[in-house]
Amino acid sequence: MRYYENPERTFENRCPSRSWYIPGGVSQKYLLIGDWQFAYFSRDIDVPEVIEHWDTIPVPSCWQLQGYENPNYSNINYPYPCDPPYVPDDNPCGVYQRQFTLEKWGKTYFVFEGVSSCANLYINGRYVGFTQGSHLLAEFDITDYVNQGENTVTVKVLKWCCGSYLEDQDFFRYNGIFRDVYILQRPEDHITDVEMIPNDKEISIKLAGAARVRIFNGENLLVETDMVDSYSFAPANPILWNAEKPHLYRVELERAGEIIILQAGLRKIEISNRYELLVNGVSVKLHGVNHHDTDPHRGWCQSEAELRRDLELMKSLNINCVRTSHYPPAPVFLQLCDELGLYVVCETDIETHGFLRRLPNVPYRYDVESGAWPCTKAEWRAEFMDRMVRMVENFKNHPSIIIWSTGNESGHGCNHIEMLRWTKRRDPSRLTHAEDASRKGQWHNADVFSMMYSSLSDMEEFACRDDINMPVFLCEYSHAMGNGPGDVWDYNELFDKYPKLIGGCIWEWADHVVNVDGVQRYGGDFEGELTHDGNFCCDGLVFSDRSSKAGSLEAKAAYQPIRTNYADGVLTVYNRLDFTNLEEFECYITIEADGEVVESEQYSLSCPPHSRVQLKIPYEKRVCRFGAQLNVDLCKGDTVWARTQHPLPYDVAETAKVPVAELIEDAINIYAKGEAFAYTFSKHYGIFTSLVVYGREQLADRPVLTAHRAPTDNDRNIQYRWMQLNEWQGENLDKSFVKVYDCKIENGEIVVSASLSGISRAPLLRYTQRIRIDENGRVDWVLEGSVRPDAIWLPRLGYEFVLPGEVQTFAYYGNGPVESYRDLCHAGYVGLHESTAAKEYVHYVRPQEHGNHTAVKWLRIGDLEFAAEDMEINVSQISTAALTKAEHTDELVRDGKTHLRIDYKVSGLGSHSCGPELEKPYRLAEKEILFRYAICPVKNQF
Ligand code: GAL
Ligand code: MG
Repeated sequence: MRYYENPERTFENRCPSRSWYIPGGVSQKYLLIGDWQFAYFSRDIDVPEVIEHWDTIPVPSCWQLQGYENPNYSNINYPYPCDPPYVPDDNPCGVYQRQFTLEKWGKTYFVFEGVSSCANLYINGRYVGFTQGSHLLAEFDITDYVNQGENTVTVKVLKWCCGSYLEDQDFFRYNGIFRDVYILQRPEDHITDVEMIPNDKEISIKLAGAARVRIFNGENLLVETDMVDSYSFAPANPILWNAEKPHLYRVELERAGEIIILQAGLRKIEISNRYELLVNGVSVKLHGVNHHDTDPHRGWCQSEAELRRDLELMKSLNINCVRTSHYPPAPVFLQLCDELGLYVVCETDIETHGFLRRLPNVPYRYDVESGAWPCTKAEWRAEFMDRMVRMVENFKNHPSIIIWSTGNESGHGCNHIEMLRWTKRRDPSRLTHAEDASRKGQWHNADVFSMMYSSLSDMEEFACRDDINMPVFLCEYSHAMGNGPGDVWDYNELFDKYPKLIGGCIWEWADHVVNVDGVQRYGGDFEGELTHDGNFCCDGLVFSDRSSKAGSLEAKAAYQPIRTNYADGVLTVYNRLDFTNLEEFECYITIEADGEVVESEQYSLSCPPHSRVQLKIPYEKRVCRFGAQLNVDLCKGDTVWARTQHPLPYDVAETAKVPVAELIEDAINIYAKGEAFAYTFSKHYGIFTSLVVYGREQLADRPVLTAHRAPTDNDRNIQYRWMQLNEWQGENLDKSFVKVYDCKIENGEIVVSASLSGISRAPLLRYTQRIRIDENGRVDWVLEGSVRPDAIWLPRLGYEFVLPGEVQTFAYYGNGPVESYRDLCHAGYVGLHESTAAKEYVHYVRPQEHGNHTAVKWLRIGDLEFAAEDMEINVSQISTAALTKAEHTDELVRDGKTHLRIDYKVSGLGSHSCGPELEKPYRLAEKEILFRYAICPVKNQF
């Protein structure tokens, strides 16, 4: 056994864990970031006594992104045989070295905030110590190793160690010194640990020995005194901390000229007798997201500014909770959560998911009974405990942390139980979470019942089960891979309905990719990846560059501060916030008719948290072409925090029916002509082959009836039933045929009987089309058909038109401006929108279906108008076939034409890439189809 393969000896000479802070006053921090000398060896046994050739590497960084080894993305599978605690004999090693100068005095410490997978530390050539636990702090006392003036630090980092078995998280597997690394120089007799575990009454400080303490509220000094060992201060009118109003007191501790500044929050976490999560006595729902450290250029390295950007962006999306999946974050992340106001589920660096795949050809199961999993083994106990103790000791003072988590997907065994017991004893003020405890039926070992990706009906069941007598938390839900997630709204409706459901965290914050020359690359794109999981790492609620997508805005809507209801002229606004009165916002209420604002009023709503306010909004029914809407916007300055919408009743203007146009027929075609138009309808294909309007041809090709969509990532499981991905499973909708049986003129209308089938399959849809063309060129199109009873529900159904490329700009009355689907439509609003085919493109990492708009009544594009009671539209520069084919954005082919879909319906998105199947109401599952729409010639106005 090699030294780094011993789970019972995972560190040497590391200091005991203490609460994290950066001391000031006479103390110094030497941040050792920037260029280091670096030497990479593909086998650690090749590292010579004296290294002669050094490269340069930036620190912090991941060496795979600096030209040493290729990136490798693996989800569950270990990237080496599962033979714990042993790792491959050829173990790559990166040696880091640099100089630093210091005045020798007091005590000197060396701190790593993150190094993967393990590090051997040397000062001036002398071995100091060893540490494992990539995402945990490691501090070494180097006082006896440093010289006055010039010094050399050398860090030998191995790619793998036994700890790698506990770090099988779903991510790119990176190595190196990837977080800040620094030296602290402090007085001989400095304070070490400070304990300031938050409560809701007083700031209670514990430390060994004496200190001067000063407590401030803002700039106001509240108290200054000497303390020994412990001190408590109860502010007269305590201002409590919560995620909406994250009030912090500043605590300064001074000893021997050193000053430690800490932020203290007063708050209390409890469980109510209805199993609600109480923050300061108020029932709070967690509107959360899972955060991995990820950057498209720098991998696991995220600077303070980037972390701040992430957290601020979360706040702007109404997110109030973050789970640090699946390892502790950099300390500054928690400082920012304290400051900005986010509830944190702080998780330690443990995941052993790969044990589930250690044997071939077995079902997905956590067979901890087998005794194979580290969580059940005595030799791993110390290492499990070490990872928990370090996290809790480092971060115990952060008010933002409300739950400690023992890790993710590691089974549930005695080592977890030990971690939970210790944590409860050490810090009874917070709740505990153990991801697999509930999965294994042992939820009572932790304080919350926790599941991932449970369906809505499972959630309801949990909410109603008496044996689950604790809060129910969805540690992961709404898998945000690619276009989606489509289900976040419905989950939040359930969270609101059941006291016991305390909310959850969307999986996950940002796409993990490697940006190579402007193209986002994922698993399988790199040479030498022995096992990989393709694009399963691209499942962010925001893109890797943190730009938002429709799914981000959908989450913002689901998490927004209000829900509203409008009935009988009364608008009821419910305040979902926990600590904020709605009077802090401006509320704008507008009435739109046909997309034009006809009334608008600003209100100030005095409405305490969790209560309702009612407003009389009288509205007189008017005549509209498309419809009328009541819009409620909740704003602060320029920021819209919430928007809701309610359709209003309206009258439709009567239009006289225009007589049919004369139809002229030859052997192949039917012709219709008028002042503004000349149409050709092919009897052979049962469809128009030419639509000339004001002398201009509108069609670049003939329209076709299709049911295929370029699968979204969330379609990755159902797509086998839709497409031809193997020879037996699919309806083969991607290779479909329209068969025209008959086409004739009947009572002045064209009547087509036809079917739509996938290759090799029996007809999917047998249908009739009735087409009435009037003297003005208006075409009324009726599609009526029956879907084969045993067919799978469809991705969509409708007509794909190909228009000349110059036809780009369009206007519509429907749900926009962001793309919308039946289950992802709360961020958009029904109104009049204008866009272009180019603007509709959304750069999902793996190209896929996008750009749909629901609830459309009217569309103008080219010299045509399309109208329907309810249709869905999609305008794109890319054909469905091209979108289906491309695996990366640089492979997308634009053919210079505009592709328009006029759809009867498009199925919702859901989050079935990892979550449950798409909920039934969002599937196009009906067997009898009736779709009416109209096409009218217009003079192009763009
Ligand atoms: C979960 C896991 C996450 C991630 C997700 C899929 O099972 O906890 O780490 O792998 O699935 O994206
Ligand atoms: Mg996993």
